[in-house]
Amino acid sequence: MVKEIKNINKNLNEGTKIKAPIVEALKAAYDNPTYQFHIPGHTKGRAVLKDFKKLIGEKALSVDTTDEFDNLGTLHPATGPIKEAQELAAEAFGAKKTFFLLNGSTAGNLAIAMALTKKGQKVIVNRNCHRSILTGLIISGAEPIWVCPNRIEDWSIWGNIEANQIEKLLESNNDISMVWITNPTYEGVVSDIKSISKVCKKYGVPLIVDEAHGCLWNFNKHLPETALKLGADAVVHSLHKTGGSMSQTSMLHISKDSCLDEIAVEKTLKLLHTTSPSLMLLGSLDAARANLQSKGGQKLLDRMVANAKYLRNRLDNISNLHQIKADFGYKTDVTKVFIKIDGLSGKRLESILEIDFGIEVESASDIGVLILCNLGNKRSDFKYLADALEKIASNHYHDVYYLEKRKHMPMLEPQIKMSLRDAFYADKERVSKEDAIGRISAEVIAECPPGISILLPGELITEEHLPYLNDYDTLEVVKSE
Ligand SMILES: Cc1ncc(COP(=O)(O)O)c(C=O)c1O
Repeated sequence: MVKEIKNINKNLNEGTKIKAPIVEALKAAYDNPTYQFHIPGHTKGRAVLKDFKKLIGEKALSVDTTDEFDNLGTLHPATGPIKEAQELAAEAFGAKKTFFLLNGSTAGNLAIAMALTKKGQKVIVNRNCHRSILTGLIISGAEPIWVCPNRIEDWSIWGNIEANQIEKLLESNNDISMVWITNPTYEGVVSDIKSISKVCKKYGVPLIVDEAHGCLWNFNKHLPETALKLGADAVVHSLHKTGGSMSQTSMLHISKDSCLDEIAVEKTLKLLHTTSPSLMLLGSLDAARANLQSKGGQKLLDRMVANAKYLRNRLDNISNLHQIKADFGYKTDVTKVFIKIDGLSGKRLESILEIDFGIEVESASDIGVLILCNLGNKRSDFKYLADALEKIASNHYHDVYYLEKRKHMPMLEPQIKMSLRDAFYADKERVSKEDAIGRISAEVIAECPPGISILLPGELITEEHLPYLNDYDTLEVVKSE
């Protein structure tokens, strides 16, 4: 067991020679201030609300700048420290090319769809994909061919995708242009990407893996293997989710032996991105990568895995608490701990944790709650959490009835009546939820987290959808003639 680590990260690069070019360029700009007659107009924080400045700190505002000034480089095209930082990231993640993303992995998925798929092309996509993939397909006009992963019924969640499911679809559709798989699931269930990639290669079809929740995998041997090493052509990583960068920052990697048109991807990213990228956000991606490679970062990763194991061991000893483990025929990411307590819905457990113990978890469903064991969590956090769960499990908390009528993880097989794009751009009308039954949806309904679709444009609305739609009074449907 790794001992508690004191002052990890006191200094990002302390004791290491890990380069972080954007961080260094920002520091140089900070140390050599100029008279500033350019955006952003708050001019190093001089013109912001005092309370806001107090809250986030003067220094943060001083380095809030975009990519046109102070030798910081540009994002599109990548130049200077930004180019160098992207190259270092590619090396660290084992990619041929890495693009830094603002607007999260959403931007990466949109770019892949828009750059690499065309109207009418078929793309195999898992039904539990994130809505950004669907948005991309609506824009490009490509059609999803759904693959429904295995179901983990007791937990009401989707499980792994099997290579033979992909092979069957490739066999029966000889015009598939791409396979696009999400791995791991939000709850940490891992698919056999190596076998899926073999199948894709056999049929000569590129494989894209949305690894938004797996950006740490290349940095610790106790975590699953990254798709970049298992034969995927491109991979997206939400560094901001678990990798330690600031919110909305992600990376898109093109793998070393991929033949994907990376210039098309780059051009599309330029169209999608803001023309004023935040250097602070880009710097945080650079810092996160450097941190993961540094000695301090490696210790954090070891601590994270040890903490996850500690938590799981503690939870194993609570008789009416259950956790998803890697012993049901699929692998899992040990750091994502999905639990349930007998007699309590996940939503109720979430609110007890929050109100009675001041604990916030990643998410809750009607069944359970998802706990992320993060790089930044200390052993004492896990002790407190495990103690709280012991108390809750033995204290006969009661469930709240109204929560029980809700369902959270959509696990329905879609009945497709129209193409995704045609339905999205069709003439629409808004009708009451009840009147929408039997009509064709014209909108994407995918609540976050985890952003998995309940209904998509072109799908038949049925009574089965209602338990997922408690927050909706009306729905947008394709206008009847
Ligand atoms: C599997 C998956 N892909 C992509 C995304 C989008 O990521 P981001 O929030 O970085 O845009 C998410 C977000 O939850 C996700 O769960």
